[in-house]
Amino acid sequence: MKLSTKHLLSIGDLEPADILGLVARAAELKAGWPQGFRPRPLNDKTVALIFQKASTRTRVSFEVGTRQLGGTSLFMTDRDSQLGRSEPLKDTARVLSRYVDAMVVRTFGQEVLTELAAYASIPVINALSDRCHPCQVLSDLLTVREHQGRVEGLVYAWVGDGNNMAHSWLEAAGHLGLELRLACPEGFDPDPLVLAEAKARGGRILLTRDPREACDHADVVNTDVWASMGQEDEALARRAAFAGFTVDAGLLALAAKQAIVLHCLPAHRGEEITDEVMEGPQSVVWQQAENRLHMQKAIMEALIS
Ligand code: CP
Ligand code: NVA
Repeated sequence: MKLSTKHLLSIGDLEPADILGLVARAAELKAGWPQGFRPRPLNDKTVALIFQKASTRTRVSFEVGTRQLGGTSLFMTDRDSQLGRSEPLKDTARVLSRYVDAMVVRTFGQEVLTELAAYASIPVINALSDRCHPCQVLSDLLTVREHQGRVEGLVYAWVGDGNNMAHSWLEAAGHLGLELRLACPEGFDPDPLVLAEAKARGGRILLTRDPREACDHADVVNTDVWASMGQEDEALARRAAFAGFTVDAGLLALAAKQAIVLHCLPAHRGEEITDEVMEGPQSVVWQQAENRLHMQKAIMEALIS
C-alpha cells in the first residue's frame, strides 16, 4: 500500500484509510513471517535513525525491521553527529537526503520534524516527539484489533498524563470516530487544540478528573509514565499531582471483563501502573511491544519503497 502522505509526522497526517490499511498490512506481515512471507522492499535502501532521546523498542524495531525488509539502517545521535554542534536542521536534511532513503527521528520539539520534512527530499518518520508518538499508537491499534477483533466501536480509556501518547490517541480517535475517555489530573490535560480537533473530526471524547469514570466498562485501558523524557526534573512534583491515577486492580475491575491493558513502556511500576496489573492476565504489553516491529515494517514499506 501507499500512504496519502509523504511523511509520517503525526497521525493527523494520515487519512482513516491509511491508518486501517497500515494495521491490516502489519497484521499480514506478522502472520506471514513465520510462513516465509518475507518481502524485501527496502533492498539497497538505507534508513537513518536520528535519536535525540533514549529508546529501546523504537530503535531496535526500526533497525530490525529495516533489515527484515532487506535494507540497512544507521544510527545517529547528537553526540556523534554535527547535529550536536548545531549544524542547522535544514542543512542536515538536504545532506542526508543525498545519502539515505528515509529519516526516522526521535526528538523534543515537533518543529524539528517539520523543518526536516520541509527540506528533505526523502520521507521523515516521527519516532516520538514531545508532541506525539504516531508509530506507537498505530501499532497499539494492531494490538487492540488482535484482542478485540476490531478497533472501531470500542471504549478506550486513557489514565494519566495528557502527553505525546494521549495526543496521538486523540488524533486516532478523531480520524476513526473512536470513543476515548481521558482521565488527567488538573494541569496535565492534553493540548486543548488537539482535543478540539479530535472532537471536530468525529471522535467521541470525554475529559474527566476521575479515572473511574474513564475506565467504566472500557474495552482498552491505557496508561503511560507520569514524567516523560525531558521532564525528569518534574518527576517528584508529578508523583504528587498524579496520586490516585494509578492503574491498579481496583480500577481495572471497573472496565469490561475482556478489557486489555496497554502501556507503551518503559513503565514505572508502582506509579502509573501496579506490578500486579502489569503482570496480570489482562496486560498485553509484551505483545504490544512486539507489534512495534510489525508496524514499523508496514510504515516503512508504505513510505519508502
Ligand atoms: N514505547 C517506546 O517508544 O519505547 P522506547 O522509548 O524504548 O523506544
Ligand atoms: N510519554 C513517554 C513515552 C515513552 C515511549 C515519553 O515521551 O517519555
